Amino acid sequence: TRLAGVIGWPVTHSRSPLLHNHWCARHGVNGAYVPLPVRPGALATALAGLAAAGFEGVNVTIPHKEDAFGLVTRRTHVAQRAGAVNTIRFEPDGSMTGDCTDGTGFIADLRARGIETVRRALVLGAGGAARAIAAALLDAGGEVLIANRTATRAEVLTRALCGGEAVRWDAWPARLEGCDLLVNATSLGLNGAEGPDEAGYWAECLERAPSALAVADIVYNPLRTPLLAAAETRGLTTVDGLGMLIQQARAGFASWFGVWPEADAETRALLLATP
Ligand code: ATR
Repeated sequence: TRLAGVIGWPVTHSRSPLLHNHWCARHGVNGAYVPLPVRPGALATALAGLAAAGFEGVNVTIPHKEDAFGLVTRRTHVAQRAGAVNTIRFEPDGSMTGDCTDGTGFIADLRARGIETVRRALVLGAGGAARAIAAALLDAGGEVLIANRTATRAEVLTRALCGGEAVRWDAWPARLEGCDLLVNATSLGLNGAEGPDEAGYWAECLERAPSALAVADIVYNPLRTPLLAAAETRGLTTVDGLGMLIQQARAGFASWFGVWPEADAETRALLLATP
């Protein structure tokens, strides 16, 4: 049996075991994928133990993605750009290869939904998810603007990745002109509206959005976030976070289990049906 898993703290909420074990069954792989609760600070010990126990590799999630970046033997170009590692392969020689599949997963999902090119995107947020997505959009040839509630974090990220000026948080709606994609990579909207005004906030922000704008939210719980609801009301194309969740998992599965898994309607339905 080939073994893989997801390291996080907490990790019980992770959908990855459901997804990978579904793919194992679907593709006839003799494999198992388990949740691995590992405390902050214990990642190095856990990785060494899992490699010694014969695991093929692991996914790494909050709060370990930046630590994983520092612990692997080598990183892919994408992981280097993202400053984080979410997928590790234990090599036969004892070394570890680290990849970051969040940004490429996001782009793959856009393509799967018929959004082939993004000329200019506005990314909201400056955490790990925002960085991975902004880097992937830039690497795909687009221009990226970054806005964040805490301006210094937007400035640091803009300097590191894109050059130019960060967008002021209260000014981002005015900068949608000329953009073909808006991405919410903040935690606003997670677990429903933060306050009674959140729906109104997004509706107001999108009031003068160009009609060709696509609106993406990386949050998938709930699937229809207040931002996506406001975008739908305006008749804009929307992209929810579930597709990215599925797409970012595919590269790890392929590397550990040797099969490129399907990201089809059945997979999506399974995740939707399981609370
Ligand atoms: P991750 O690494 O998962 O992206 P993070 O680093 O905690 O997570 O980032 C969360 C993002 O959501 C940040 O950009 C944060 O803004 P700050 O840098 O100002 O903290 C943003 N965020 C969280 N709550 C927010 C809110 N109520 N309004 C606007 N932005 C918010």
